[in-house]
Amino acid sequence: MRELGRWFHNIDLNGVPTAPDHFLGDYPRLKWTYVASAIPRDLQGASVLDIGCNAGFYSIEMKRRNAGRVVAIDSDEEYLAQGRFAAEVCGVEIDFRKMSVYDAPKLGERFDWVLFMGVLYHLRYPLLALDLLAEHVVRGRLVFQSMLRGADRIDRLEDDYPFRQVAVFDSPGYPKLHFVEKSYSRDGTNWWIPNRACTEAMLRSAGFEIVSRPEEETYICRRR
Ligand SMILES: C[S@@+](CC[C@H](N)C(=O)[O-])C[C@H]1O[C@@H](n2cnc3c(N)ncnc32)[C@H](O)[C@@H]1O
Repeated sequence: MRELGRWFHNIDLNGVPTAPDHFLGDYPRLKWTYVASAIPRDLQGASVLDIGCNAGFYSIEMKRRNAGRVVAIDSDEEYLAQGRFAAEVCGVEIDFRKMSVYDAPKLGERFDWVLFMGVLYHLRYPLLALDLLAEHVVRGRLVFQSMLRGADRIDRLEDDYPFRQVAVFDSPGYPKLHFVEKSYSRDGTNWWIPNRACTEAMLRSAGFEIVSRPEEETYICRRR
């Protein structure tokens, strides 16, 4: 386990935790305890695509819920190596592949469940990714999670505003995507961090309908 570098996912490998000192606590199990309630206990062989899978925590949990084929993609080979190791120790079969979210349409398949968690704010082109997933990749449900910053409030917006109406943009509840030019939380791969209104608006704009919000940052969606 140590030879595979620094772990972001804390996974219990036969009693050995891979990231016991995670800055967010027992992560992502803490998040999973909320999200899990919105996912069937028995997935009855459903296909799953886990985008930005990291060391595969969510893929392993989906497999434990009787998912069928689970494809797990990430742009980072080091995390994929951790994932392959974790899956082997946990005794589950997961198809790990080095692939960016932008290339997911090349899989040539729509999946029953697509997990897109903790990735959006790492992208330079977040709406492109959501558009591609809606158009080519999601068949059943999208499980979406993003770091959120800014107001939790959501303004009721008109369909259109006159050119000279400028105040609306300054309202905290207006959809906002905060650009990080340099670094946030000592991570230079954070680019765009949405507020809640922006997250929900982008999901809708890409063609998703929000079915539920099992915790603050996570949305279960289906294609409209
Ligand atoms: C914050 S971690 C989230 C991991 C996991 N999905 C979770 O929610 O716990 C972000 C992951 O996304 C991966 N990633 C970043 N950009 C990506 C891209 N363009 N395509 C696929 N994965 C990407 C990173 O390598 C990293 O494993």
